[in-house]
Amino acid sequence: MAVVVLGSINMDLTTYVPRLPAPGETLFGSSFITVPGGKGFNQAMAAGRLGAPTQFVGRIGDDAFGKGVLEMTADEPVDLSGLIVDPNSSTALAVISVDDQAENSIIVISGANMAHDASEVARCRAALTTANVLLLQMESPLETSLAAAKAAREMGATVIFDPAPAKPLPPHAYQLCHIMTPNELETEVLVGFRPTNREEAAQAAEILRERGVATAVIKLGAQGVYYQSATESAFVEPFVVKSIDTVAAGDAFNGGLAVALSEGKPLAEAIRWGAAAGALATTKPGASSAMPTRAELETLLKKYIHRFHR
Ligand code: RIB
Repeated sequence: MAVVVLGSINMDLTTYVPRLPAPGETLFGSSFITVPGGKGFNQAMAAGRLGAPTQFVGRIGDDAFGKGVLEMTADEPVDLSGLIVDPNSSTALAVISVDDQAENSIIVISGANMAHDASEVARCRAALTTANVLLLQMESPLETSLAAAKAAREMGATVIFDPAPAKPLPPHAYQLCHIMTPNELETEVLVGFRPTNREEAAQAAEILRERGVATAVIKLGAQGVYYQSATESAFVEPFVVKSIDTVAAGDAFNGGLAVALSEGKPLAEAIRWGAAAGALATTKPGASSAMPTRAELETLLKKYIHRFHR
């Protein structure tokens, strides 16, 4: 069916540097790009480019960055009718550095993202009348996201919650998630240790499931992905690509996962879609700009088909 994404939309100001600067250090970078980002919007772009009818719900400010975001995304396959312009807030910004190893550091100025209120929940509810998956993250108010999760569950939609950037969650948050998708750092914030291999990822997933998450998906970056539901668990080996920029790889994962589930694909296949989308996003610069197309994803999945039919 279709995907709804409630969350952040930022203008990303990204510098490419040989290495991330030390405190007090001045570094010369090699290049700079300005692209729309935000974990929420990146996930919507991933879902849209991968072929799902996708609506994004959020807000921007009435300012130059807000206008820039609208101009730069006008031709993208994401329905922005749920995006409002808030005259009392500024468009969110992310100041990003990416080093020669494709690693990144990100500072977010939240602006309009943190002004989400009950009107975002109402717009989600309206969008969910024709959708079956809701994607949420943590760059907008948790209370609003959890209200949207509750509405989605009542309407029969699958709730995917990406706890990024992580902070400790109240107990009822776990119970509202059909699927939670933390990376290693986010897992550490939630469960108290950082998983470094599949055994530790399995322990972390068990803890999340005991708290009420139906399916826990632990993203281990270039090492792969572990997932565990009530009936199945597995470790998905990474797709090997030439990474140049890891910004938004996790967002691409969530977009891929959401699209596959919206199309009724089994969980194991949906996790592979997420992993493939995440890998592909690291092969291009930028955030929303790096989200793969469906053709790119299908080509990568075909390359690895032997792995899935052993
Ligand atoms: O996940 C990547 C995103 O994090 C960037 O696009 C940036 O805007 C921050 O929100």
